[in-house]
Amino acid sequence: MSYFASRLFQDARVLVGVTGGIAAYKSCELIRFLVDAGSEVRVMMTESAGRFITPLTLETLSRNPVFSELFPDSEFSGTHHINLADWAQAVIVAPATANFIGKLVNGIADDFVTTTALALSCPLVVAPAMNSNMWQHFSVQRNVAQLKENDVLICEPEEGFLAEGYHGIGRLARLEYLLQYLYRALHPEPNSLAGKTVLITAGRTEEPLDPARILTNRSTGKMGFALAVEAFARGARVVLVHGPTHVIPPRVDRLVGVQTAQQMLEAVEKHFDQADVFLSAAAVADFRPASSRPDKIKKENSEMSLQLVSNPDILATMGERKKPRQRLVGFAVETRQGVQNARKKLEVKNLDLVVLNNPGEPGAGFAVDTNRVTLLGKAGERVELPLLSKLDVARAVFEVLLKGSTDLANE
Ligand SMILES: Cc1cc2nc3c(=O)[nH]c(=O)nc-3n(C[C@H](O)[C@H](O)[C@H](O)COP(=O)(O)O)c2cc1C
Repeated sequence: MSYFASRLFQDARVLVGVTGGIAAYKSCELIRFLVDAGSEVRVMMTESAGRFITPLTLETLSRNPVFSELFPDSEFSGTHHINLADWAQAVIVAPATANFIGKLVNGIADDFVTTTALALSCPLVVAPAMNSNMWQHFSVQRNVAQLKENDVLICEPEEGFLAEGYHGIGRLARLEYLLQYLYRALHPEPNSLAGKTVLITAGRTEEPLDPARILTNRSTGKMGFALAVEAFARGARVVLVHGPTHVIPPRVDRLVGVQTAQQMLEAVEKHFDQADVFLSAAAVADFRPASSRPDKIKKENSEMSLQLVSNPDILATMGERKKPRQRLVGFAVETRQGVQNARKKLEVKNLDLVVLNNPGEPGAGFAVDTNRVTLLGKAGERVELPLLSKLDVARAVFEVLLKGSTDLANE
């Protein structure tokens, strides 16, 4: 399970549409994730999709019959397409062909998938996948722009190696991105941060010692990435500044990769004034080597000592610069006297909310997909959360923040 294993997916009624592209096999991974996360999944597929992947595979994975015939011969046909459209809480068509997109824009309903898509009243995610020339064709681009204008969530394709044997844009977006958009489609408050800019730092910093060595910590960035997914799902403009990591960052409006604490400070300073909320989830190294050597340090003696100097305190610096309309959220990793130390941090750094976690607790802290935290607010609020996926922790953070900030919440 990933940090995406949110309660929002649990018991969610998700309809997955599969259309006739080479990426149809990738829909299996999406269905598996959703079933594993506790969603109720129904699948509909076009006739062409059946050329690429069998209904049996999708039926087995989703544990439900697959819908593909608008007029099935044998059984009572009824209005399955309407029933299914009414049943769904969110729909994702992945992969979506150029043909499907063209039909949807023009209101053509000539098979099960297109007819159901026209009958929806819930949010719809469309994840196109096709050859790069098809994707860049003026009619596809025009159709996609039209869908966006009509509030369809478009999870755009990626660049990379295509089935045709060359590189280009058109690959189906990876699973993490599909889930990011689907999470938004399922979110109960999708516009609660519309028009707001949310700035987030995530991950660790690396402080070079010499060309081969660094001083760093165990943070992977998952907590900060979960906050970015949450802010995106609430309709915010998201700026994400992150340190080195192997975890794929979510799709945001502005992604800035940095290495050192100094670089992270510079990136935050650049974007801070436009931000309505700043969440500092990065594990910034408190110290760095006094000097970074240009050549590799040789093993000359049996002992060596390093001289370290203080790094800038990014959160405290922003706390001093904060305007009344801005909200600041910090993370406190404490292994002792957590609440007391976290409250002190809240005051000293001029924060609105502090998220306290103890990495010593099972399932909490660095490099795991879950976290157990206590939220401490400026007005004395204290919310103790159970062990949750990092995405559910992120949702709780924004819930508490919005509750305490009438000027931030879009009523
Ligand atoms: C081998 C093969 C691969 C194809 N891959 C894609 C694709 O990735 N994306 C796409 O839009 N169309 C693709 N097509 C074309 C569609 O299958 C075709 O437009 C079909 O009518 C789509 O039907 P549907 O939208 O009802 O599923 C492919 C066709 C073939 C023969």
